[in-house]
Amino acid sequence: MAESRTIGVFGAGWVGLVTGGCFAELGHQVIVRDVMPERIDALRAGKLPFHEPDLPEVLERNRERITYTLDAGDLAGTDAIFVCVQTPPTYSGDADLSFVWSALDDLPASDERQILVMKSTVPVGTGEKVRAALEGRGLSNVGYVSNPEFLSEGRAVRDFLNPDRIVVGAFAEEDSAAVEALYAGIDAPVVRTDVASAEMIKLAANAFLMTRISFINEIANVCEAVGADVVEVAKGVGLDHRLGPHFLRAGIGYGGSCFPKDSLALKQLASNSGYHFQLLAAVIEVNELQKRRVIQKLQKHLGKLRGKKIALLGLAFKAGTDDMREAPSLVLASRLLAEGAEVRAWDPVARPGELIKGAVLHETVADAVRDADAAVIVTEWDELRNLASKEVLDAMARPLIIDGRNLLDPTVVRAAGFAYEGIGRPSSPFEGLPQTAEPEAKVSN
Ligand code: UDX
Repeated sequence: MAESRTIGVFGAGWVGLVTGGCFAELGHQVIVRDVMPERIDALRAGKLPFHEPDLPEVLERNRERITYTLDAGDLAGTDAIFVCVQTPPTYSGDADLSFVWSALDDLPASDERQILVMKSTVPVGTGEKVRAALEGRGLSNVGYVSNPEFLSEGRAVRDFLNPDRIVVGAFAEEDSAAVEALYAGIDAPVVRTDVASAEMIKLAANAFLMTRISFINEIANVCEAVGADVVEVAKGVGLDHRLGPHFLRAGIGYGGSCFPKDSLALKQLASNSGYHFQLLAAVIEVNELQKRRVIQKLQKHLGKLRGKKIALLGLAFKAGTDDMREAPSLVLASRLLAEGAEVRAWDPVARPGELIKGAVLHETVADAVRDADAAVIVTEWDELRNLASKEVLDAMARPLIIDGRNLLDPTVVRAAGFAYEGIGRPSSPFEGLPQTAEPEAKVSN
């Protein structure tokens, strides 16, 4: 167990609450500060503003060690302050750091040495700027550390407590040692490095993961054209220990609160420095096209989509979360509506509100698919694994399933009487093979 310290957290969002809760779990005293009164009131009443497995239990179990406040002054005297605020993209694609700067404005004066720890994803060079700003304000007893988060939604508590690595980038040795000590009790390699490299590790890791997804999606599209099955291909490729099996699931593209935003930020960061990051630009473009491929698949079976009833099954950007930020469902729904289709949607937890205007949300899968011309699996929810049932077959106007996540077994679905299209799985094996001429028989004389 770590030696108990006091930790301040700026930002009671998803990263801030996971960070605060998990540090409390490690035995530290935590003060979480946010500027939204309703959020602080809700947290004090034990209510979480989003869905994240295990987090309610962690916050409840460590209730005695966590306080919530609106007053940044309450963080005076804490050993470290973690900055966990949003860094959304601006119109230019740069990261908007205004929340980071206002956290800095709110930094309470402290007699003891304090460390400002950046958890939010920021462009490389932010640490240098913050350090200069701190010095400009006479806060030379405030250290600065970059300690990026690698949390994925739906398993953030597990990711925090069992990380692959902890990255600590600092200007001063004493600050990296102090931040590393806060994680005592967690068994993981610690990468101690300079601030700029730590900032880059986060951006590069995300970019690499996205590259894998866009790569396998491109392979999937070629598989469709030549009659191979990308699920089999990914299995065979992933067994190479140099490549590994992760992030090779082909589908309808990545979404979420991090990938799209961070890829734009890295691309923009590179181009601000005069470098055109061509590969990353292609990764982003492939992802945009991938989200739209379902439309072509629907048109192939249904012709014009005007007036067709399409059920979108799953709205969240992935299973296990209610988050719809940058979800492929948003692009799909608006494209379908633009084609004149009637869009119905179902999701067990995500509620689109104003995000999708013009689609009708249904409480059950059965309601969403009734009289539908096609059902599209958009999110890989477990509830959809039995979609190819007799009830669904009878309920649909046309038994067509477009499986945007390769969740179902094509043979089983077809045997159940449905037409099936996955991603990177041929409609019928060898269908797309080029019509290569047979070698001509040698004429022997
Ligand atoms: C991600 C990173 O994993 C995390 O380290 C970072 O800090 C934030 O971004 P998250 O956005 O929660 O986390 O989701 P993740 O599980 O990584 O999935 C991201 C997107 O990629 C989802 O839309 C998912 O459906 C998609 N994906 C993932 C694929 O399409 N194929 C895959 O093989 C893996």
